[in-house]
Amino acid sequence: MADRAAIILAAGQGTRMQSKLPKVLHPVGGRAMLDWLIALAEDLGCQRIIVVASPGTPEVQAHVRDTLGDQALVLQETALGTGHAVRCAETALAGFKGDVVVLYGDTPLIPSSVVEALFEQISSTSELGVLGFNAADPGAYGRLVTGSDGMLQAIVEAKEASADELAISFCNSGVMAAKAGLLFELLAAVTNDNVKGEYYLTDTVGLARARGAACCAVNCEETDVLGVNSRVELAQAEAAFQQRRREQAIRDGVTMIAPETVFFSYDTEIQTDTFIEPNVVFGTGVRIASNVRIGAFSHIQQAVISEDCEIGPFARLRPGSVMSAGAKIGNFVEMKNTQLGPGAKANHLAYLGDSEIGAESNIGAGTIFCNYDGFRKHRTIVGAGAFVGSNSSLVAPVRIGDGAMIGSGSVVTQDVEPNALALGRAQQTVKSGWASRFRDAMTAIKTARSKR
Ligand code: UD1
Ligand code: MG
Repeated sequence: MADRAAIILAAGQGTRMQSKLPKVLHPVGGRAMLDWLIALAEDLGCQRIIVVASPGTPEVQAHVRDTLGDQALVLQETALGTGHAVRCAETALAGFKGDVVVLYGDTPLIPSSVVEALFEQISSTSELGVLGFNAADPGAYGRLVTGSDGMLQAIVEAKEASADELAISFCNSGVMAAKAGLLFELLAAVTNDNVKGEYYLTDTVGLARARGAACCAVNCEETDVLGVNSRVELAQAEAAFQQRRREQAIRDGVTMIAPETVFFSYDTEIQTDTFIEPNVVFGTGVRIASNVRIGAFSHIQQAVISEDCEIGPFARLRPGSVMSAGAKIGNFVEMKNTQLGPGAKANHLAYLGDSEIGAESNIGAGTIFCNYDGFRKHRTIVGAGAFVGSNSSLVAPVRIGDGAMIGSGSVVTQDVEPNALALGRAQQTVKSGWASRFRDAMTAIKTARSKR
């Protein structure tokens, strides 16, 4: 296989997003669009990844430096067109002799298989190729003009197209691949003599043909190359991602009653025979083993769930939640930075923060782990087989030993030794007959008043 490089164009202004955040940093499926492209380039085995950014978006520059390093960042001082943008990467790729793919930073959902097919074409039938799709509404897309042999002859931008060309529905996605040397040679010959006064990357096709170099268009689905220019299109890309991810989960052995109401992140992992009720949201960083049951309206992020666990309905698992096999988190329980041991349970209305809970322990309804003193967070450690009575407050830092019991309603401020009973609540007093005497006295007052 030839060496591979990717050039990701991200120097557009993205003004239609109406956002302070640069367009390519808006997330789809919980991951910045730009990171989808970087992940794609890595999947394709690109040894070199260059991002072309605008001087006007320091956030994009910082993001590229942090994720890929300084050498990956190239600035396009003025946006003079896609051809000019690609040319800006020439120096950064000096000496690179392999295949180059051009990707757009605002086109996040391209499957690596379709780009792989494009790379195969440029090492067999062609020297330059693009990904094309049949557009439902060709609108402003560049039209792909193909010959009777099916090879690509030219790309005509909509603004330059004749009526006949505008009638073509086979459109340019923007993804282009070619040998690095050829691509930069062709780009050097591209002019801006066109309606928009821009250097069009797409003009390389006509120039390649004029030199007798074969060009091809590899077909893909329109949703594969969905570009995002506005928040409406961002929502469409999100919907397309969710749709795909749900289908994948179902194929992989997950049951969902109403898949259209379950929301995934790009990195959600779920094993077979897990059952998901309606209206569940997975934030990023969630790993779920097999045979887990997730009740309706649960919200889970950065959590690791082992097999046979039960969650919800109405549970909230925040970052750092770890559930060992067979553990249970019931309705209106919130969990954060907490490890729940095998078979441990918190079935109702509780907050478990910054803690470890041992195997088979039971945390009663209404229990609160008081982890925060207004300045710092503190840990609560509950041993194995412990029983925390309902409506208890465990004031951290505190340790409850193995097998210990906490009486309901206790405020526990000191460690409890294993197998002890801790009671931290006001002593109950019982006054015999008090209630009847109270009622009699009140009734007498009421009767006297009504006679007045
Ligand atoms: C481009 C293609 C068109 C294709 C369409 C698919 C050209 C001339 N036209 O048109 O054939 O159908 O994409 O969406 O290539 N960019 C820069 N610097 C620039 C200009 C653009 O980095 O100077 C980046 C943008 O940020 C964007 C991408 O290149 O990510 C595409 O630019 P855009 O202006 O949207 O191109 P289109 O006119 O849509
Ligand atoms: Mg565009």
